[in-house]
Amino acid sequence: MQSFDAVIIGAGAAGLFCAGVAGQLGMKILVLDHSEKVAEKIRISGGGRCNFTNLGTTAANFLSDNPRFCRSALSRYTPQDFLALLHKHQIAFHEKHKGQLFCDTSAEDIIQMLLAECGASGNVTRWQPCAVKNVRFLSASPRGDYAGSYEIDSDRGTIQCGAVVVATGGLSIPKIGATDFGYRLAKQFELPLITTRPALVPLTFDEEAWAPFAQLSGLSLPVRIETGSKKEKIGFLEDLLFTHRGLSGPGVLQISSYWQAGTPIRLDLAPDTNVAELLSQAKGRSRRLIANEVATLVPARLADTWICQGASLGHDWARPINEASDKALFALAERLSRWELTPTGTEGYRKAEVTAGGVDTKALSSQTMESTQPGLYFIGEVVDVTGWLGGYNFQWAWASAFACAQALALRQR
Ligand code: FDA
Repeated sequence: MQSFDAVIIGAGAAGLFCAGVAGQLGMKILVLDHSEKVAEKIRISGGGRCNFTNLGTTAANFLSDNPRFCRSALSRYTPQDFLALLHKHQIAFHEKHKGQLFCDTSAEDIIQMLLAECGASGNVTRWQPCAVKNVRFLSASPRGDYAGSYEIDSDRGTIQCGAVVVATGGLSIPKIGATDFGYRLAKQFELPLITTRPALVPLTFDEEAWAPFAQLSGLSLPVRIETGSKKEKIGFLEDLLFTHRGLSGPGVLQISSYWQAGTPIRLDLAPDTNVAELLSQAKGRSRRLIANEVATLVPARLADTWICQGASLGHDWARPINEASDKALFALAERLSRWELTPTGTEGYRKAEVTAGGVDTKALSSQTMESTQPGLYFIGEVVDVTGWLGGYNFQWAWASAFACAQALALRQR
């Protein structure tokens, strides 16, 4: 039987990073993954360039049942710390938008960097593909270091180890290896879970109701988008993308993480513009069709679709603006600035970037990521900590992995 100080299950962002740090702190680590390919999610992230962190990361950029949980780890491993690693490996990067950092060349740079960090100590072994069949807790070591506490049955034999780190990620994109393993293991050890749901995911609408907008598929524009009640509303100023089945784009992905089924979302299609005033001014000086005036505020294809909607709403918007009633123009302005619509669902885990919910942080130490089950740790996306779009989820993977690796090494001493 092979023996390791710790076994990390999942060779994705959090698992590889944890293995590299713990190995360099002198621990004998096995990282295993049931997938043939290493870190596929990093490879496909950020359109192939991996948005690996966000310079503005704070706890406010994360959703969790306990929003304070992520603070400690995020403050002990910051975006600047990860940048120092990139500098060491001479990886070129750039800022794209609102603090989002991407590789200049390819996400492969990040994967190779993580593998090099794992290789640096000579202490990290990686088994891929290797499936885990069973995890057993034997007993805590009398010395309190948990040596030999766990046995793992894998398809490469049984392994003995002092600690088990679960880094199996969330449920999104099952075709590249996502599983519910982490949640099942949490249940096995009677740890609580927060119900999981797809997040950072496109929203869908009733097919018939959406038919007029489906033809706009591919069209994008900057919008203000919000959801929630007056007291607890959350909003983003980001791009919106029309799709065949509904809405996507950064603004919609952000809001999807907060959206509750059955509730509406609200869109301002011409943000920071007083549409009512502009239309009223145009009425006094223009004889152009209303559609042409609206096309100065939103893309022309959307303006045309919008005007066609007028008839079904009881307004005649298909006329020159100087002939329109004030009431009709006001209704048009209201609908452009406060378009309220209720999604019927989401595109699900097939298209979601992340999984919200997961292992309840109540059962975890925010300092070490160890659960109330001694020697069992959870890091990365499997934990109920979900970042906004924009590099926050990787920053959580690095930070939670770092906290865990430090704790493993301290325990070993
Ligand atoms: P991750 O998913 O990276 O790794 C989990 C590993 O566990 C996988 O290798 C999997 O094969 C393995 N595993 C699962 N079940 C197992 C089992 N039963 N046995 C053994 N191994 C098992 N975030 C961001 O910050 N910036 C970005 O640009 C993007 N872009 C992006 C694009 C797309 C298309 C997606 C789907 C996601 C993103 N993300 C992102 C999110 C980001 O990829 C994600 O949050 C992190 O990869 C999470 O890191 P983890 O290590 O927790 O899981």
